[in-house]
Parts: sequence; structure tokens; C-alpha cells
Amino acid sequence: MTLQVQEVPNNSRTARFIMAAKTNDISPGGCIDAKLEGHCIGIHNVDGQYYAVDNICPHVGGILHSGQLMDGVIVCPIHQWKFDVKTGECIWPGKCEIATYPVKVDGDHIFVDINSPSRPIQHNPTRVYHSKAKRRTKR
Ligand code: FES
Repeated sequence: MTLQVQEVPNNSRTARFIMAAKTNDISPGGCIDAKLEGHCIGIHNVDGQYYAVDNICPHVGGILHSGQLMDGVIVCPIHQWKFDVKTGECIWPGKCEIATYPVKVDGDHIFVDINSPSRPIQHNPTRVYHSKAKRRTKR
């Protein structure tokens, strides 16, 4: 799915929220990947709340939205590292984290502040495992 990227005005000096998806694009328990100005971001729906995280696993580049989301934990499809979707903390094996991004919902549009990742993005873009899965949906 190709998402329309639209900039929206804001009053913050640093925040820059970009329209990333519509709420009905992501069912509860589901996720989409969004390419927002070069950022690979996974947007997850956990019980109607939306969370945006870096979509590339810091291990060796698994595409996280292709994995599973269980009880708010993203499981990387390559080697099953686990990340808290709300905080980005690596739950297993630990000692790393993925960036989270502020999200706001206005009507049926989801906006992501791409200027405010919780940590610097440190993955190597040459080591990205691409999955055939385009979107995870609740089973
Ligand atoms: S690439 Fe994600 S756990 Fe190895």
C-alpha cells in the first residue's frame, strides 16, 4: 500500500507531524509500514491506540511490521527479538531499543512527528531484510 504523505502546519519549533495513515487503514492488532521522508516507520494499533516506531530491527535489519504484535510487544520476524511498542525497549534479549515517535490522531487521520524520535536511528540501511508480507492484520 502506498500512503499519501502530507505535511500539516504546526506551532512547534521542532515537532513536524506528517499525515501517515487513516485510522481505518490499521485494524486493532494490525500494523502498516509508512515511508515518511526517508524514515521507515511502523504504525501499530493496540486496542485503538496508535504507536509509531522505527520499523527496522536494530539486530540485522528485520522489518518489524512483518512480525507479530502480542500484548503490545512486537516480535521481529527474523530472530524473534521483542520490543515494547509503547516505549521501544527491547524486552528480549535486551540492551537495545528502537525509536518511538509521537503520534496524534485528528479525526480519522494519524499523524507522526518525524522530527522527534525518542532516540537516534542507528540501523544500517544496507542490512535490511525485506519480507514478502506487506501488512500484518489481526488473525
Ligand atoms: S533481525 Fe530482528 S531479531 Fe534479528
